[in-house]
Amino acid sequence: MAESKPTFYITTPIYYPSGRLHIGNSYTTIACDAEARFKRAMGYDVFFLTGTDEHGLKIEQKAEQLGMSPQDYVDKMAATIKKLWQKLEISNTKFIRTTDDYHEKVVADIFQKLLDKGDIYLGEYTGWYSVSDEEYFTESQLAEVYHDDNGKVIGGKAPSGHEVQLVHEQSYFFKMSKYADWLLQYYKDHPDFIQPDTRMNEMIKNFIEPGLEDLAVSRTTFHWGVPVKSDPKHVVYVWIDALTNYITALGYDGKDNSDFKKYWPADVQMVGKEIVRFHTIYWPIILHALGLPLPKKVFGHGWLLMKNGKMSKSKGNVIYPETLVDRYGLDALRYYLLRAMPYANDGLFTPEDFVDRLNYDLANDLGNLLNRTVSMINKYENGSVPQIKSGVTDFDSDLEDTSAMVIDHYKELMNELHFSDALSEVWKLVAQSNKYIDQTEPWKLAKDPDDKEKLDSVMAHLAASLRVIAELISPVMTHAPKEIFNQLGLTDEIDLKNLDFMKLPAGSQTVKKGTPIFPRVDADEEVDFIKQQMTKTDKTKGRSAMKAAAENQFNPEETDLNLTKKEVRFDAFEKIELKVAEIKDVNKVEGADKLLQFRLDAGDDGDRQILSGIAKWYPDFKKLVGKKVIIVSNLKPRKMRGQVSQGMLLSVEHKDGNVELVTVSEHLENGVTLE
Ligand code: MSP
Repeated sequence: MAESKPTFYITTPIYYPSGRLHIGNSYTTIACDAEARFKRAMGYDVFFLTGTDEHGLKIEQKAEQLGMSPQDYVDKMAATIKKLWQKLEISNTKFIRTTDDYHEKVVADIFQKLLDKGDIYLGEYTGWYSVSDEEYFTESQLAEVYHDDNGKVIGGKAPSGHEVQLVHEQSYFFKMSKYADWLLQYYKDHPDFIQPDTRMNEMIKNFIEPGLEDLAVSRTTFHWGVPVKSDPKHVVYVWIDALTNYITALGYDGKDNSDFKKYWPADVQMVGKEIVRFHTIYWPIILHALGLPLPKKVFGHGWLLMKNGKMSKSKGNVIYPETLVDRYGLDALRYYLLRAMPYANDGLFTPEDFVDRLNYDLANDLGNLLNRTVSMINKYENGSVPQIKSGVTDFDSDLEDTSAMVIDHYKELMNELHFSDALSEVWKLVAQSNKYIDQTEPWKLAKDPDDKEKLDSVMAHLAASLRVIAELISPVMTHAPKEIFNQLGLTDEIDLKNLDFMKLPAGSQTVKKGTPIFPRVDADEEVDFIKQQMTKTDKTKGRSAMKAAAENQFNPEETDLNLTKKEVRFDAFEKIELKVAEIKDVNKVEGADKLLQFRLDAGDDGDRQILSGIAKWYPDFKKLVGKKVIIVSNLKPRKMRGQVSQGMLLSVEHKDGNVELVTVSEHLENGVTLE
């Protein structure tokens, strides 16, 4: 009998179908998809769930505005969302809709069970209601509050600017307070429950320690929801309905609960940081009240931000995934999103960064490696990959060691959902492979028949590297790995579990002529294109007051002739990003007397490397370690002496011609921008 595979259950949040999904929502789904694909390739039996959260006032209103029934509206929207996930090649096992009948039935049962058990009770909800918005707000959600002389809040304004009034409404409440101590103890006993772990402290400090409030879990003011069985004028308020999808999808309490038995508790529940609270406080308490085990891990990732803050239609800074996929291919989008979002922080989307990653990481580094390798195997080996052997050239073992290290680190990082770092690891192998070509100079080996064994070894090593790279990127990119395998004539299956550099099948014919998998694009043109897609951009929000003020003074009528030689337009200056960075290490660059190679912490995920021609002035360069400097952080990376330099260090030139780095106070945080 075949050995049974370990199981792995991963979920995305279920999305509101009240609008089109953008690249921010797509991030969560793509991240879960990459993890699901990774685990499958590691030999797991994976259940990957996503879906839509279809009840509630917003949906009811939206449908009404469109003159549709809520059901017709959500049917249409859910179909669009499913189509999007197909386009992004999301490999979900199931798509749940909260309007699915099996879900609605179990939600009503769960609610009743908790009501009968006494965890849910009937009380009075007091909140601020905006008639114009038809929406309730808590005091902390109000944009403005009015106080009486004693400091009591007597009114205020909703975020929309509309006046709100205090209302009292009958509502069922969940006794969250009853479980606060249990939850704190659970956190203590399971320190990995919430990841990244800083988020656990946020939960304790902001919500549990100040006293956990009971949660309103029903409404009588709208109808688009699951009615409470014993009191049907109430509908279940969205969170109990939404959160329980993770178990109803597996058949919990339904006709067939075999998946529930097999996959619950979930291994990873991935959510954006704004709903970590619901998933790490309310959700565990609901599960505990139902006598069920908790998910092993809730992972709260940061937001993908635009330069002027969060993506929103009103700011006109929304980018839709279809736009990028249609123009640059799916791999480019999936790679970019997972590479751009750091582990524990927010990520920033800029068109420049997107295009740079496409041109540098994909076209230059990976694409060229494949092109060069395939054309050399065709030229020197008649298109057939030689048998791989160790220790033929002086550089083979370095490449083999890098590969082994990268595979190990990559697996650890992917297991811990460090997608961006895992990709950086892979690119270490890409870089080492490109370096290996420079070191071994195969075109020279090809000239001397005595060097044939070495040449064979170099070709086999390059093919082996590309095979490893293709496997490692396969959870993230769905097209490139197949293309790499194709061009190298490889037919074996992706199997990350048993991945081994030296197990390269020999003799397979490469296709005669490789085509570039990631063509370079014209950076300026494409940046413009992406910017145009972000239609109506709000120019002032999210910028410093100084920049906004200066911009207002800028007169568009003014011609460039009015600028003196040293002046630049404000918009040119504004493009330059200056950041504080800490020097982590300094080294000489072999064969380049003038250059120093700096490793810096500029608040990015991972270190930055900058090369600077100031070696002459710093014979004691190690003394610079620990100093804080200013860097131009958005210069196009460039190669100097085979090494990438990602920016520029600011320095001054004294009157006597000596150069000194500009250093700043140690109190300035790494990565802060100079405004
Ligand atoms: N329906 C609730 C979730 C219920 S889960 C039981 C909801 N839906 S949502 O449509 O608003 O989707 C929110 C999720 O989309 C976030 O938690 C996050 O995963 C993702 N994102 C939305 N905007 C995002 C960014 N700008 N960046 C990254 N993720 C983003 O909340």
